[in-house]
Amino acid sequence: MCGIVGYIGTQAASGILLEGLRKLEYRGYDSAGIATVLEGKIHCVRAKGKLHNLESKLAGEENPARIGIAHTRWATHGKPEEYNAHPHTDTANRIAVIQNGIIENYRELRDELKARGVEFRSDTDTEVIPHLIAEAVAELSGQRLAASGQQSNIPSALILHPSSLLEAVRLVVNRLEGAFAIAVISADYPDELIVARQQAPVVIGFGQGEFYCASDTPAIVPYTRAVLTLDNGELARMTPLGVEVYSFEGQRLRKTPRTLNWNPVMVEKQGFKHFMLKEIYEQPGVVRASLEAYFDSAWTAADHQHSPIRLNLPTELYADLQHIQIVACGTSWHASLVGKYLLEQLAGIPTSVQYASEFRYAPSPLTPHTLTIGVTQSGETADTLAALDMEKQRRAGHGPAFQARLLGITNRPESSLGQLVPHIIDTHAGIEIGVAATKTFVAQLMAFYCLAIDLAQHRQVIAPTQLEQLLAGLQQLPAQIEMVLESQERYIEQLAHDFAETQDFIFLGRGINFPIALEGALKLKEISYIHAEGYPAGEMKHGPIALLDAKVPVVAIAMPGTVFEKVLSNAQEARARDARLIGVTPMDEQEAAHTFDTVIPVPHIDELLSPIVTVIPLQLLAYHIAARRGLDVDQPRNLAKSVTVE
Ligand code: AGP
Repeated sequence: MCGIVGYIGTQAASGILLEGLRKLEYRGYDSAGIATVLEGKIHCVRAKGKLHNLESKLAGEENPARIGIAHTRWATHGKPEEYNAHPHTDTANRIAVIQNGIIENYRELRDELKARGVEFRSDTDTEVIPHLIAEAVAELSGQRLAASGQQSNIPSALILHPSSLLEAVRLVVNRLEGAFAIAVISADYPDELIVARQQAPVVIGFGQGEFYCASDTPAIVPYTRAVLTLDNGELARMTPLGVEVYSFEGQRLRKTPRTLNWNPVMVEKQGFKHFMLKEIYEQPGVVRASLEAYFDSAWTAADHQHSPIRLNLPTELYADLQHIQIVACGTSWHASLVGKYLLEQLAGIPTSVQYASEFRYAPSPLTPHTLTIGVTQSGETADTLAALDMEKQRRAGHGPAFQARLLGITNRPESSLGQLVPHIIDTHAGIEIGVAATKTFVAQLMAFYCLAIDLAQHRQVIAPTQLEQLLAGLQQLPAQIEMVLESQERYIEQLAHDFAETQDFIFLGRGINFPIALEGALKLKEISYIHAEGYPAGEMKHGPIALLDAKVPVVAIAMPGTVFEKVLSNAQEARARDARLIGVTPMDEQEAAHTFDTVIPVPHIDELLSPIVTVIPLQLLAYHIAARRGLDVDQPRNLAKSVTVE
């Protein structure tokens, strides 16, 4: 949610900053802006809308400045207009600030500043920051004191560098409430870039005599893989000579950069028209990566005393487990519903799945034998982090075993989630750029297969032969996904033509494929802007069936297994209301072939493993309908990849 990027060093900053914004545009695209220190002044250019509007404004501009900050916005406070675009500056235009997050006490700070005569030029929460920094710089420099004859109320012991920009920022961040990350430059301190973090991500990249900062690593990996992640309550002073890190209390901290095992190619489209399509095609590889990371390929039924899964979780996590509660949002919530099915059906553990945004204000009563799992691909979703933080607080004061029963499932173990919970399952999907989650969903499902199988084996509640069959089935998944991609993409692209003007869609599934119906509907909604609903097929007759007529297509997932016949009957009920029926089902199922008007065939597959394959045609259908409608698939309107605000 909002992307921030900064540069200080020996090269012209603006090109690097624009390139960084391109990599971060998935975090928000309501407006963009850039500020540099040029000829002793802040030079700030901003534009409403997508990044290309800012690029057009900057076209032909020669800007040799070697320091700058830039921002891509997802609007929270104030409309997506140019006057609300970041960077924001102080009245004298000497200080420029960009922010990701929300300053919760901005109203009172704004009133306070207004009472001192400050005039605001935006509706944002961010604008209070440059004004407060300007005042702090002035006060530290003694100018205000001299003018007013007052004594400073800042304890001298806390002043690190009187009159420094760093100290002014430090004093101001201590007054801000909320979750935020900021970057600050000043025309009076042309060799300093200050960044601060309070519950919104900031990474710093280390080059040779040049340094980068950003909300996320894709903006930095083209230049360096040596990165340092700021923790909550830390700020850093970046100069061409190096980076110093301090706590918000003013204490100098020793931190060393780590090396990312990424390469810049991972954040390119590699010939695909959109990141989303590339990421859909990466799914066989994602499943393979998960199998390699967590499965013991040499395991056979004869090894039934041991688990075939290597999650490296401490055994205390599993001991006396009586309940699992999962918190997540969006697509991660759908993956968690599949996880619930697996944890209950394979491991026999009662499991509840909650929206993190609901859970944090109405948590279920906690029992000592409850494991709480937070699922978030980005590891930065504010609601999920807040729910887990609350869960951590609830457990504080109880025994260590109780406190340790917190687990995160994420694609970004280096994220805020990684700092919050004691145990992590890394989903190994690689960076996902498309705002609509695809490969990270499949990777989360793989994490749940691992966890459910490991728990089932630990509790000795799964028969060795069933386990062996499951493992064999999991090994076949990459090839089965490939088969669907190769044989069905063209067909689905053609099919999408029929729905370019469709207004409403219904997705049906039952059992373990009900969450896939929800996910199919969410994918279509978010990238094609078509209204879509996912339902458990058996619920249709209790109300939603009233929506059906010839204009509302129904997509039903019908996989042989416990609910196959039931789904086909429910589909017939929809057909009787003239709905066009599209079935995701194995080709050679005669009854299904007679039921559906259109079949998107998938391989025969164990029902328990089928979600990993049945979701693929639904992702492709959403993608091709949106592409056919000429929409911006990777950056759908009003959305952002990581929702770092409540
Ligand atoms: C998925 O397509 C969406 N963009 C969204 O629902 C997303 O899954 C949700 O915001 C949760 O994100 P997280 O997994 O990073 O926590």
